[in-house]
Amino acid sequence: MEIKKIMVIGAGQMGAGIAQVCAQAGYDVLLNDMNEKALDQGMKNIEKHLTRAVDKQRISDQDKAETLARLTASSQLEDAEGRDFVIEAVVENMDVKAKLFRDLDTIAPKHAILASNTSSLPITEIAAVTERPDQVIGMHFMNPVPVMKLVEIIRGLQTSDETYQQVEALTNELKKAPVEVADFPGFAANRILMPMINEAIYTVYEGVASPEDIDTVMKLGMNHPMGPLTLADFIGLDTCLYIMEVLYEGFSDSKYRPCPLLRKYVKAGWLGKKSGRGFYQYT
Ligand SMILES: NC(=O)c1ccc[n+]([C@@H]2O[C@H](COP(=O)([O-])OP(=O)(O)OC[C@H]3O[C@@H](n4cnc5c(N)ncnc54)[C@H](O)[C@@H]3O)[C@@H](O)[C@H]2O)c1
Repeated sequence: MEIKKIMVIGAGQMGAGIAQVCAQAGYDVLLNDMNEKALDQGMKNIEKHLTRAVDKQRISDQDKAETLARLTASSQLEDAEGRDFVIEAVVENMDVKAKLFRDLDTIAPKHAILASNTSSLPITEIAAVTERPDQVIGMHFMNPVPVMKLVEIIRGLQTSDETYQQVEALTNELKKAPVEVADFPGFAANRILMPMINEAIYTVYEGVASPEDIDTVMKLGMNHPMGPLTLADFIGLDTCLYIMEVLYEGFSDSKYRPCPLLRKYVKAGWLGKKSGRGFYQYT
């Protein structure tokens, strides 16, 4: 089966980025969101990013126009009918993703691959709610999607070799670098990254240093391009908390205990850059 028609579900920061790179690579793309406002914002963000790329002479005006022509907004899940490949980038919550995959399984054509951009949830469990677990796979893009090269490809217990090979080929078509990882909590990237971010939050919580100073320590001391608290704000503090919960529960190990300050910020609606406030304020 050749992948030609793609649907991306969730038009937030990841979904919009995934839709953009797929359209730029020549695929026919539907970008779906259940929330009309989020969908509209996602489409606008793509246009803004493409305009910036034109301004920086990375792409031409014609590339931009052709990319936008391959992109269509969708507010109905039924639009998955006729798609060869569906990737979801909705909220990091197993109940929400399980319901979505159950619905998609009844709507998408039998040949379609169903992928998840989950940062940490078990692909095997997501696949198990469908009648096609061999065609379910994790395709974990990094943020911001148009810039970051890595895609972790996660096989569930029943993911077939054919599905893996198709998704690996798709990743290469998108000019990304695929890395195969096993289905363990947090996969590889977030199992390493999130405990570091969580520890940075503990250092703020315990009054060791301010967010600015912690970020400076990691930038100037460890040569990280971005401090962990700025990065947490960019990822979204709700997403960081979900991932820590998955590690904590998945390994039953107290070393993954989410910092109470992270919980408090999320409860207050301080979700980072997307909500205007996290460890820093954004206008
Ligand atoms: N933020 C990151 O840095 C990052 C990196 C890699 C992977 N991820 C993963 O990508 C996924 C999305 O993260 P995000 O940061 O883009 O979130 P986000 O909050 O920016 O966007 C999520 C979008 O999904 C929509 N949505 C929720 N439920 C839906 C449904 N049932 N049907 C259609 N749309 C629905 C919401 O309206 C929202 O627009 C999560 O699984 C997250 O773990 C995030």
